[in-house]
Formats: sequence, C-alpha cells, structure tokens
Amino acid sequence: MGADDWWKKGTIYQVYPLSFQDTNGDGRGDLAGIRSRLDYLVWLGVDAIWLSPIYPSPMADFGYDVSDYWNISPKFGTLGDFDALVAEAHAKGLRVILDYVPNHTSDQHPWFRASRASRDDAKRDWYIWRDAAADGGPPNNWLSNFGGSAWTFDSATEQYYYHAFLPAQPDLNWRNPKVREAMYDVLRFWLDRGVDGFRVDVLWHLMKDAELRDNPPNPGYQPGDPSIRRLLQVYSCDRPEIFEVIAEMRRVVDAYPDRILIGELYLPLERLVAYYGTAGTGVHLPFNFHLIQAPWNVREIAGMIAEYERLVPPGEWPNWVLGNHDQPRIASRVGVRQARIAAMLLLTLRGTPTLYYGDELGMVDLPMRPEKVRDGWAKNEPGLGVGRDPQRTPMQWSAAPNAGFTSGDPWLPVQPTYASVNVDALSRDERSILTLYRRLIQLRRTHSALALGAKRLVESPQAVLAYERTHGTSRILVALDFEGAPKSVPLPGGRGTVLLSTHLDREGESVEGAVGLRADEGVIVALAT
Ligand code: NOJ
Ligand code: CA
Repeated sequence: MGADDWWKKGTIYQVYPLSFQDTNGDGRGDLAGIRSRLDYLVWLGVDAIWLSPIYPSPMADFGYDVSDYWNISPKFGTLGDFDALVAEAHAKGLRVILDYVPNHTSDQHPWFRASRASRDDAKRDWYIWRDAAADGGPPNNWLSNFGGSAWTFDSATEQYYYHAFLPAQPDLNWRNPKVREAMYDVLRFWLDRGVDGFRVDVLWHLMKDAELRDNPPNPGYQPGDPSIRRLLQVYSCDRPEIFEVIAEMRRVVDAYPDRILIGELYLPLERLVAYYGTAGTGVHLPFNFHLIQAPWNVREIAGMIAEYERLVPPGEWPNWVLGNHDQPRIASRVGVRQARIAAMLLLTLRGTPTLYYGDELGMVDLPMRPEKVRDGWAKNEPGLGVGRDPQRTPMQWSAAPNAGFTSGDPWLPVQPTYASVNVDALSRDERSILTLYRRLIQLRRTHSALALGAKRLVESPQAVLAYERTHGTSRILVALDFEGAPKSVPLPGGRGTVLLSTHLDREGESVEGAVGLRADEGVIVALAT
C-alpha cells in the first residue's frame, strides 16, 4: 500500500441514486441523471463516487433488498447505462464505488424463493432457518434492527427464518461455502465491468454465532430508544469468524489492481480498527462514523480523534465520514454555522473523507408528514424519530420547479428552501458553504500536508480545536471555533498566511503571533518555515 494510493488522497462523495437526478420524469433519480451531473462532481473536486444500491429490488428498503446482484434495476436504467456511466466517469477522472449488499437479499430473490419452497431444496441452507422454540416462539431472542423479532415464521415449511433488518430482507447463511462462492462471483462481475471498489453493507453482521445464543440485555436501554437497543448485539454481530470471510473478499478484490473495499461498521473504535485485519487481510477502510456519533464539543471530538489515531494500526490509513443516508444531516445536527466548521474538520483531518450528497449545500433534514413517510423502519417504529426519509430528499440543483431534480412528482418532497439553497445559486456565491466545500477539496488536492501529512494537536484556547498538518517542509495549522465566540489562537512558529477561512473572506491575510477567530470561524493557515 503506497502513499500514492488514490483512495488515500481522494475525497469520496456518496450519491443516493434515487434522489440525485431524474431524467425520465418518474420522480426517481436514475443512472442517466448521475451521468448528466458528473461535471458538477468534477467541478466540486471529488475523486470518487459511491452509489447506494442500483440493483433490481422491490425497494422494501430502497435498494438494500436486492433481488438480482447481476443487473441494474430498470428503475435506474440498464447495464448499458451503467457501463456508459463508468466509462464517462473514468474519462473525467472519477472513480466509481458500488454498494455491495452481502448480508441479506430480498425475499423476492430467486435464491430465497427456492429456499422457502421446501426444506429439501438445494438453496434451503443458503439462508438461516430454524425450528420454533419449545413454546412455538422464535428460536432465540434476537431483534430486528428495524423493530420486532428478527425471526419470521414461514407457515409453508413451518420454520423461522432470520432477518437482521426487514422480514423482506432474509439474511444469507455465510457459513455455506456455496453462498460465499456465489457472492464472490458478484464481486468479480462488477470488478470486470470496471468498478473501482465496494462499500460493503453491514459488514459486521455477516457471521452470526454458530449456536445462535441469546443476546444479553442492554443496561443502557432507555424507553423511547429504538427497540434494537434493548439487547447488546453480542452474538448476532462482530463475531470472530467474520475475519476469515473478509480475508476471502479482500483476495477477490486484490486480484484487480487499484480497487478498494470499504466496510460499513457501526462499532466502538477499538472494535472498528480490527476490521483493517492483519497484513492486508481486512478492508482498506473500515468506515469511521465517530464524527457522526460523538457529541459536538471540542473535548469529545478531540478525545475521539486522538483515540482513533492511536488505534489505527501502523501502515493502515484512517478515514472520516460526516453523513450518510441513514443519519440526520450534519447541518441539522450541529446547525448551519457549525456545519462549516464540520466541513473544514472533515476535509483537513488525516484520512480519507467521505461526504454525503447535499451536505455541500448545507441541506437540512426535512421532517416528513405521516403520509409522506417511505422508510420501513419509520413505519415499524413510529414516534421514535428513527425515520431516514428526512435526509434523503432530492438534491437541489436550481430554482426551477422541484429544484431541477425532476419534471415529475418527486418520490420524496423537495425541501422548501430550494429556491435559494441550490447548486446554481450557491456556486455563484463567493461566500457560500458550497464554495467553502469546493475550496477545501481544492486545498486538500494542492497541499500534500493536508492530504497525506502527519497530524498533531496544538495548544489552543477552550472550545477551539487546533492541529498542525506537516509534510516535508510544508506546515499547516487548522484552528476551529466550536462554541460561537471569538478567540485568539497562538501560532506555532510565529508567522503565517491564511489559506482559507470558513467565512471565505481572509485568504492571503498575514498573521503573526496569533490568529484571531470570529464566532463559528475556522481557519487554515500556512505556517512560515
Ligand atoms: C445499512 C444501509 O446503509 C441501510 O440504509 C440499510 O437499511 C441497512 N444497511 C440494511 O441493508
Ligand atoms: Ca427516473
């Protein structure tokens, strides 16, 4: 693994295909739409796009219920459209990362249809079937992440099947070598078509306890929490056997040059870093969601960053994620002013940044009226605030009707702010958050200290996070105000020049002794050497 690996220096941008750009007026985004917006992504400066699932799917979980791994959903286009998208992206210097959903299929997948048809079917053991407990109830106490038992009784063959998510998403049995072979063939199919890597859905779920032991109660559960939190997922996830599977996946991917595996992993830091594996047997990047999860204050964020840096194994590369289609948007979590601080943090930390479409516009969550709710989790557990529709609303391109997303009826409502919060308007505004994102990505590209440099925390006043990035003779200071009050931050080395402020009005300013911060301001300063 060399310093020139593209995915170390690169910025990853998550496209949620349903909400990016519609071209045929059916109100849902499609591949032709993504293709038509590649120039925007090039302009923004990102290096890779990760597409949430685009395979045929009944859409019970909006694509995370795959009914055919070897095709493109007609709702999104055709294999021809996909090939054209990859070719054009590559020609423009963009990599394409696909979502790979190995833990479960749709209940409409031919494998599951066969599996549920009879206990003797050759595919029966491709899923996890068990007899009822003595009382006729589910085989163990495991819970679905989307509410209720994780077991559904199938009266045709009188057994329960396991599903960590919706009943329409039965879990595959990864202990079966035939399942593994079939699923590795899926990887090869898309690698052969030229994709640059995969984001692996719920990677820590793949292997379950061989004895399916009951999960213990979670002492931290509070009424009003999603029901999955009632139990600690000790036996249903993050089992030691998973590492053998990941090593096999890694070998498949490593047979192709320059490809990457990213794991979706919601785990504490010390467990997360285990997924780097040893000596190139894990994923290249175990997605680090701790910027999303940590409380937004300097003490927590600085402590978490230091802990993570300490835990990433030597020779492995860190990464940071600020948002995705499952999490409230950053501008809603921390407010629009601190969202600029968050952007500067994401794009100046040591490690690959991943950003979520629309966050570069400062898009916020759109609360859904009950009749607009689409997310199955929200429908199963209403009133708990678990719905994910608010962060999946259409991308805002312009002030045209439906923000230029569709000429039809959008599958989720467009945010009412779109008349001013859109790519067209914000790209012309020198002080907009979009301009800030673009400048940050450019700086990361032009300053190796930001992309690849070492990082150390620097003494700073309370509520300021300050760190230095160094590479060769280049030294860069980043200072971020987290509390909305002016500050003065001493400059290590004495003198420097402001490269960028979150307020976008200080470029080129010389600073000596200290750099002042206004409320909610972050600065990047090139230090004199
Ligand atoms: C994680 C995905 O990001 C989420 O959207 C999905 O619902 C679950 N995995 C189940 O596939
Ligand atoms: Ca469409």
